[in-house]
Amino acid sequence: MSYKILHATAECVPFAKVGGLADVVGALTEKMTDHGLDCRTVLPYYGQINDNFKTEKLSTFSVLLKDQYYDTVLHRCIEGGLKGTYYFIEHPFFNDQTDIYWDAARNGISDVERFVLFSKAVMEIFTILDWWPDVIHCHDWHTAIIPELIDIYSLGEPNYPNIKTVLTIHNLAAQGKTGHEVLHYAGMSAGSTPSIWEDFIDDDKINLFKLGILSADKITTVSPTYAKEVLSAPLGMGLESYLSRRKKDLQGIINGLDTDLYDPATDKKIAYQFDINMPAVGKAANKIVLQEKFGLAVNDKLPVLGLVTRIVEQKGLDIIIPQLSKILSLPLQFVILGTGQPVYEQELKKAATKFDNLGVIIDFDDQLARQIFAGSDLFLVPSRFEPCGLTQMIAMRYSSLPLVRSTGGLKDTVLDHETGFVFKEYTGISLFNKIAEAVKIYNNKPALWQAMLMKAARQDWSWDKSIDRFINIYEKLTR
Ligand code: GLC
Repeated sequence: MSYKILHATAECVPFAKVGGLADVVGALTEKMTDHGLDCRTVLPYYGQINDNFKTEKLSTFSVLLKDQYYDTVLHRCIEGGLKGTYYFIEHPFFNDQTDIYWDAARNGISDVERFVLFSKAVMEIFTILDWWPDVIHCHDWHTAIIPELIDIYSLGEPNYPNIKTVLTIHNLAAQGKTGHEVLHYAGMSAGSTPSIWEDFIDDDKINLFKLGILSADKITTVSPTYAKEVLSAPLGMGLESYLSRRKKDLQGIINGLDTDLYDPATDKKIAYQFDINMPAVGKAANKIVLQEKFGLAVNDKLPVLGLVTRIVEQKGLDIIIPQLSKILSLPLQFVILGTGQPVYEQELKKAATKFDNLGVIIDFDDQLARQIFAGSDLFLVPSRFEPCGLTQMIAMRYSSLPLVRSTGGLKDTVLDHETGFVFKEYTGISLFNKIAEAVKIYNNKPALWQAMLMKAARQDWSWDKSIDRFINIYEKLTR
């Protein structure tokens, strides 16, 4: 059966991206379309979409918020060459040309108000399109209020009760927690549904992610290990008891990788393309390009350790920085690319002037990121927590061995001494010991290193299996 699926999201490639959420929703839309589903995706009409993509206006409609009607416009993407159907909802809350998220409120409007408006607007598009999805698939806190809205709309409209909901948790760290005034704003009251009442009496606050967790028909996380980790503190981030209660409806489904987009044999953004079955010559040539780019000595003996990341605590910067001088005393070179918290950026830049085997570029640069995957020998992902993570999979595909902490999707995708290196405790010393261990193997056991590279690169990260699991969920929900 061909299901009608609507993904409701704050981010989706190629239109709007801050993090991995965008890659995943973009890939889900494409791959589900390939699998024959009627898969459509709706996101806000950010200023940058207006500038860069061809769209067509479908209808103007209003959304009721706080006893006031807000005019919004529904657009459809008509840009060629894309798989799937994309809709955009326009409102001045999203006109900003650069920032997808506002973080701090502007003119009294916060991200919570922006995404509640968006979620309520989503409720209105089915009548306009005369298209009622079987399942609305929500992603992260931004659209987590939708299952609750479906319950409320179901009281008055015969089509809504047939819509099922899936909520995918990409990261529990941001939850959309806010004052209870948001209920009035959203046209709800504390007593509208049992879940809202429960959320309300807890602490007089409203937590949009919690509402979604309480009321979605199914919940998924982006890896099996993360699905277990969120059932207790600290990774449940305060929502562990609610997630535990929904345990039988919670499933971890590992993200795939777009293996066409990330293929070292065809990737035009890297200096030298190479076949994963014979990586040696291509890797060596890419390594020279990388060393030159970062102003490091061109040296084919030293392993190059790469790090491409948002420069924030979650990603392990607080354990890397204090260990830098020890790490750099090993026979290796270290290249770092990313942007993030200014304190960490400063520390890294300072260190780069001190150590000549360290190169740091503070930037968001997809091409250079790919050159790091292609030119490095080891790739570092030492996250404190990582719901899934994408870079470790890309690194393996580009014949760079990931060195990761044993958490979330990292634990599910990298096997110690088989496809990479895995350390357990989130401490600088266990990070350092693992790097030292890897460097020793690089120097003393080249045959083992080559065998690991082959095993790592030949794994199948394609989306097919995960899409089948989602279809299975849709099937059970709509039976
Ligand atoms: C979030 C998570 C990351 C995951 C991504 C896509 O960014 O932090 O681990 O890979 O979402 O699901």
